[in-house]
Amino acid sequence: MTVASAEKVDREYTYSQDDFERVRATVFKIAGIRLQDSKVTMVYSRLSRRLRALGLSSFRDYLGLVERDKPEQQEFVNALTTNLTSFFREPHHFEALASYLRSHPDTKAIWCAASSTGEEPYSIAMTVAEITGTFSSGIKIYASDIDSKVLATAKAGVYKAEQIAKLPKERQKQFFYKGKGSKLGKVRVVDELRKMVQFRQINLTDSDYGFKNTMDVIFCRNVMIYFDKPTQNKVLARLVSHLNDDGMYIAGHSEHFSSASNIIRPVGKTIYKPVR
Ligand SMILES: C[S@@+](CC[C@H](N)C(=O)[O-])C[C@H]1O[C@@H](n2cnc3c(N)ncnc32)[C@H](O)[C@@H]1O
Repeated sequence: MTVASAEKVDREYTYSQDDFERVRATVFKIAGIRLQDSKVTMVYSRLSRRLRALGLSSFRDYLGLVERDKPEQQEFVNALTTNLTSFFREPHHFEALASYLRSHPDTKAIWCAASSTGEEPYSIAMTVAEITGTFSSGIKIYASDIDSKVLATAKAGVYKAEQIAKLPKERQKQFFYKGKGSKLGKVRVVDELRKMVQFRQINLTDSDYGFKNTMDVIFCRNVMIYFDKPTQNKVLARLVSHLNDDGMYIAGHSEHFSSASNIIRPVGKTIYKPVR
């Protein structure tokens, strides 16, 4: 789809194909995100909110600001990421984590590398707490994302009650406080679980992730799909360089790495081991 073919609706701001191409080039440069042609309308609707908030009158002015201004660059990236996630999404990965923890009682570190609003790292933390029988096993859980807004939500650990409605009652009781009064309909991750996860901002396309230690397990799910192949292979190699020889790399359901057989080999459904 081009901007012209999507132009059936009246728009508040002028939005040209050049504007879209500039957005596309900028978000690729900053975050490695490859926007498909079909995202023309999504880009308009997400960024026009920024134009409105800033009182700007054109995409051209806005994109000029993004180039000059670091904080707006962050807002720009936040606006264009897709953050869909849920607790225990793709449950077989958490079963695989549980059996890894049972067979590797010396596990020290797990990294959730595109943690979005926190449901995934807290699902990891619940699994660790259940298998080790404690909130203070000493296993470090790192969680990161490029998007500063989702990281803030993740750190707060507050969710709509309906987001945990499908979890077994036992998990709901052990791992969440139920909101009352003005917080009715909300739940919050219990402090002990929240403290198990260390959040930090990491752009996976950066050349250095800043970790000194290596990881036993890396969850990197449903983010590679936004990158092109060369970026995927570069990011994958860098992630796997942080993985122990006997570590486990867990990918999203539609992420396959047949062209990266020199980096990882499959050992289960979207579960991989490093090739050394
Ligand atoms: C669809 S969500 C996946 C969330 C979770 N991993 C899951 O599978 O449920 C993709 C996440 O990747 C993040 N992301 C996109 N580009 C990134 C980059 N270059 N570095 C780090 N995170 C990125 C987005 O901000 C978003 O939160």
